Amino acid sequence: MPAPGTRPAGVAPEGAAAHVRAMFDTIAPTYDRANHLLSLSIDRYWRWRAVRLLRHRLPDPQGRVLDACCGTGDFSLALAAALPGACVQGADFSHAMLARARPKAGRRLAWLQADAMRLPYPDAAFAAVASAFGFRNLADYRGGLAEFHRVLQPGGALAILEVSRPSLPVLAQLYPLYFHRLLPWLGGLISGQPAAYRYLPESVARFPAPRELAQWLHDAGFADIRIVRFTAGLATLHLGTRA
Ligand SMILES: C[S@@+](CC[C@H](N)C(=O)[O-])C[C@H]1O[C@@H](n2cnc3c(N)ncnc32)[C@H](O)[C@@H]1O
Repeated sequence: MPAPGTRPAGVAPEGAAAHVRAMFDTIAPTYDRANHLLSLSIDRYWRWRAVRLLRHRLPDPQGRVLDACCGTGDFSLALAAALPGACVQGADFSHAMLARARPKAGRRLAWLQADAMRLPYPDAAFAAVASAFGFRNLADYRGGLAEFHRVLQPGGALAILEVSRPSLPVLAQLYPLYFHRLLPWLGGLISGQPAAYRYLPESVARFPAPRELAQWLHDAGFADIRIVRFTAGLATLHLGTRA
């Protein structure tokens, strides 16, 4: 059985990562605009809160922090702003997304083109690993967690922020209309890439529920796991500490 991970419609498991990478390369020019518009900028608040919750777990305020699947760098910037002593490194496998991250931060941050499933770092290299809206796109979630665990130092902090299905009944009813109809249409209009914005709700639908993901964190060797739901469950943060 293939490992649980993302797989865009009609794509074989072994082609999933290449497909996802090509898709983000294509939508990179409009990614930020579409993101803030489609979420009414709530995504900025979610990143801001996630960083604040992660900050309390950081074993070393001067430590190295990895933003995995950093995309156009907004989460890396939020991390650097909230952790002024830390050294923040953003990694993503899409060159086009990274090209948009670089000018936002000048020389303050380091960027690297790298696959989150095979990070080019030694064991225990980071005090924290964080990922915002990126983890869901991995072709193998358990493999991704094992890789994050490997590059974290013992006692290091993990934060995974993801879009999720809302728990509040009113929102839960409106959600399919927005997420499966309006969002793909609007996203397609802004980016000119409707398939990419059809993939978004599909990937969220396939993503494990918060408790299941928490169990996978536990299985991967993380302790002190906490699930924090933002905005009635529209986004969920998983926190863990490398045991
Ligand atoms: C939805 S964007 C999120 C970007 C950013 N973290 C944010 O907060 O807006 C997902 C990013 O994950 C990256 N990504 C997906 N799978 C990856 C992998 N296996 N290795 C590295 N980056 C990956 C994509 O290239 C894309 O830039």
